[in-house]
Amino acid sequence: MKNRTCTRREMLRQGGAALFLPALLPGEAAMASPQEGKSTKGKSLAGAAGTVALAPDLVVNRMGFGAMRILGVQEWGPPPDVAGAKKLLRRALDLGVDFIDTADAYGPNVSEELIADALYPYPAGLVIGTKGGIVRPSPPEWVADSSPKHLREACHGSLRRLRLDRIDLYQLHAVDDDVPLADSIGELAKLQREGKIRYIGVSNVTAGELALARSMVNVVSVQNRYNVVTRGSEELLGVCEREGIVFIPHTPLARRAQATGTHKEKTDALLRVAQQRGISTAQAALAWLLTKSPAMLPIPGTSSIGHLEENVAAAALRLTPQEMASIG
Ligand SMILES: NC(=O)c1ccc[n+]([C@@H]2O[C@H](COP(=O)([O-])OP(=O)(O)OC[C@H]3O[C@@H](n4cnc5c(N)ncnc54)[C@H](OP(=O)(O)O)[C@@H]3O)[C@@H](O)[C@H]2O)c1
Repeated sequence: MKNRTCTRREMLRQGGAALFLPALLPGEAAMASPQEGKSTKGKSLAGAAGTVALAPDLVVNRMGFGAMRILGVQEWGPPPDVAGAKKLLRRALDLGVDFIDTADAYGPNVSEELIADALYPYPAGLVIGTKGGIVRPSPPEWVADSSPKHLREACHGSLRRLRLDRIDLYQLHAVDDDVPLADSIGELAKLQREGKIRYIGVSNVTAGELALARSMVNVVSVQNRYNVVTRGSEELLGVCEREGIVFIPHTPLARRAQATGTHKEKTDALLRVAQQRGISTAQAALAWLLTKSPAMLPIPGTSSIGHLEENVAAAALRLTPQEMASIG
């Protein structure tokens, strides 16, 4: 295990008049499965956002859940209320969430273990996307290790903890500056050929890194930080839209900017939209993402069932062109 911090990837550390629309918007047709009509997907609360196709045979509701917040302080160790965390995971499924994002680094291991404890045997149609490529020497450290050896061990560990024979979506958590990206992707390709990974995604990448990965394997998703105040991945989002790749915006709620008063112009605009509609700013932030692009699959994270319900309810919201313009 390497003992250095992820300097290159600051994004790694963090870690009223509602407009109700049908489950599938016209612009979303390209992202939906041809089998959409036969599926129950798109019909639940989370399905009010429509569906998005990671692959023709892997379609999920366009409002997922990020399982990084169901842990102890600093995303380390078990949460103070383990039973409550499991209840929250089950509630997410009740609300129609059928895509859960996790990683071996969350806990570490605890998030995956809680998901299996709460939800195994998994209901048909539930897609768990996990990630490998970051290790946690101590609570504040998130250290990239995307060496082939580590990725293989990490994937085997996730399979064991999640009690799966094959992981539906395995994402490279981060590019490791000490390892050629081609080596990391090459190992994921091997694991895919061995039947341990169904589809490959990438996270915290640049457009160039995505292009390199795509020259080697079929990349079905990109998970980068993206929210009303953090727009560094606009170019990548455009690539995803053009190429039919799902874009999973992590840290979608921009809570830190709201709490610290940074990017005040944007957060004030978001607050105005929320107040005019009588919704929360978290819901407005999610509605902004869902309206921004049909490729978007938000994964808000929370430790609170009340917040979970509020976030999933945002699946039914879309902003008007005027509201989008006001946020910019
Ligand atoms: N690939 C990566 O490198 C990476 C990095 C970061 C995150 N992620 C993934 O993305 C997911 C989402 O990111 P995130 O959890 O960092 O950020 P987020 O979803 O933008 O925000 C989560 C924070 O907002 C609070 N919150 C959630 N819903 C709320 C609501 N309705 N009202 C008020 N506060 C609310 C949560 O606290 P409470 O618990 O009190 O609700 C938590 O502190 C993670 O769970 C993880 O799966 C990936």
